[in-house]
Amino acid sequence: MSSGMSYDLVVIGTGPGGYVCAIRAAQLGLKVAVVEKRKTFGGTCLNIGCIPSKALLYASEKFEEAAHELASFGVVVGKPTLDLPAMMKHKDDTVGANVNGVAYLFKKNKIDSFIGLGTITAPGKVQVKAEDGSTQDIETKNIVIATGSEVTPLPGVTIDEQVVVSSTGALALPAVPQNLVVVGAGVIGLELGSVWSRLGAKVTVVEFLDRILPGMDGEVAKQAQRIFEKQGFTFKLGHKVLGVEQSGGSAKVTIEPAAGGEKIVLEVDKVLVSIGRRPVTDGLGLDQVGVTLDRGRVVIDDHFATNVPGIYAIGDVVRGPMLAHKAEDEGIAVAEILAGQHGHVNYNVIPGVVYTSPEIAAVGQTEEDLKAKGITYNVGKFPFTANGRARAMRQTNGFVKILADAKTDQVLGVHIIGPVAGELIGEACVLMEFGGSAEDLARTCHAHPTLSEAVKEAALGVDKRSIHI
Ligand code: FAD
Ligand code: NAI
Repeated sequence: MSSGMSYDLVVIGTGPGGYVCAIRAAQLGLKVAVVEKRKTFGGTCLNIGCIPSKALLYASEKFEEAAHELASFGVVVGKPTLDLPAMMKHKDDTVGANVNGVAYLFKKNKIDSFIGLGTITAPGKVQVKAEDGSTQDIETKNIVIATGSEVTPLPGVTIDEQVVVSSTGALALPAVPQNLVVVGAGVIGLELGSVWSRLGAKVTVVEFLDRILPGMDGEVAKQAQRIFEKQGFTFKLGHKVLGVEQSGGSAKVTIEPAAGGEKIVLEVDKVLVSIGRRPVTDGLGLDQVGVTLDRGRVVIDDHFATNVPGIYAIGDVVRGPMLAHKAEDEGIAVAEILAGQHGHVNYNVIPGVVYTSPEIAAVGQTEEDLKAKGITYNVGKFPFTANGRARAMRQTNGFVKILADAKTDQVLGVHIIGPVAGELIGEACVLMEFGGSAEDLARTCHAHPTLSEAVKEAALGVDKRSIHI
């Protein structure tokens, strides 16, 4: 660590937005420091978000495979037993390797790091308050706020991270709960609900709306719900939580239809609150320097600048989807702008992936979006049941759906539910980034036998000429 220094750029927060911004700025020759209040770098994503959740999703999928799937391939292993501490160690080791990787990259790129709460005391001035109360003042030409987000609380419900947990507690339960109520059928609820369901918990998801995964293509969400129900999930859609009463290590969750009606009491041993995330600006001193907020989010222009010269913001703390790759791309763009280049993010091509089994992935517009805008479109759809590789893997649930402009054939949205959908969506992103058409995709040679042939077949389907259905 260094002190009494003056920088070109100080980045507050080292999540995917902040650390990537710092590295890109250093690559471009800027003198950069980062400020982080956690003991480790990497933010929500690496410490308590994307990475630990994917480590547990992968491990629990292996358990599920051993319990229910391997025998159908002729691999007989007997009934698997769960070593939860070993699974948690795998998660912790994965997190450790990733956060240490960021520390290494900071050193490699000669980025100074300050551990403590960062407060902007004036444009160009950041004070860092360490855990022991000591403070250091740093001077800088520019500041990037990358302070991310935190769990949105459920009014009237206390998250104690023991019985009533947020995603953070749900990533570190000491034992598999018998019954788990998940509040919110969004990404966290379905991913972490899947982890504990696979390991043996009976999962009930309470969702205020009458559908799961709001914002995702409706047809995909419906199919996903059917699959999750087969996996053992119970959905209480169109229900709201009235209260959670805790006693002796368990909880009674009272719910009621959102439109009014009979109350139901669910007696469970754990409750996961996953109703969204909200931006973090506490302690940053934004009031004092006059940075404008809109419903808690830092307001920025198209070049990530706040209303105060020299102060920029990116990632979960600003508008747009709360996703790690969106934060990273904004980090790169603002670093390039600060170095005198023309950084840019194409918000029309930001993929979203739900890492359940099967995975759900989307980029661009949904059918609902296109209908609302009055854009005429053609649909190409191809089911994984008709894909040879998916059959060989016994993973035939789901389909690929491509939406292309009816007049120009330009691909406007791709929606996939199926095996490794999160990887398959990549080629759709590249296609859309280049403004490609369904015909471009349909005429591109895809290796056989691969799951990606389902993407090509869906593209052929836009012109009603799929070969295998
Ligand atoms: P963050 O990662 O939240 O980082 C902000 C950092 O700023 C934190 O380290 C915080 O300690 C620090 N900070 C805040 N205030 C101060 C201050 N005043 N001084 C110093 N430091 C400060 N996204 C995906 O794209 N894919 C996924 O699979 C995925 N899985 C997720 C799973 C879970 C359980 C959760 C909770 C989130 C997940 N996300 C996922 C979302 C993803 O984590 C966020 O979109 C991403 O972390 C946002 O990055 P960020 O840099 O904006 O902020
Ligand atoms: P979410 O926004 O995905 O889902 C929240 C759900 O809760 C919605 O369906 C909403 O209708 C419902 N809801 C809201 N208030 C409610 C209430 N009072 N009672 C019942 N239901 C209620 O939020 P989630 O799952 O908490 O995740 C937060 C964010 O983290 C995501 O939006 C995403 O940006 C990010 N994330 C991304 C992941 C990924 O990319 N794979 C994984 C996990 C999180």
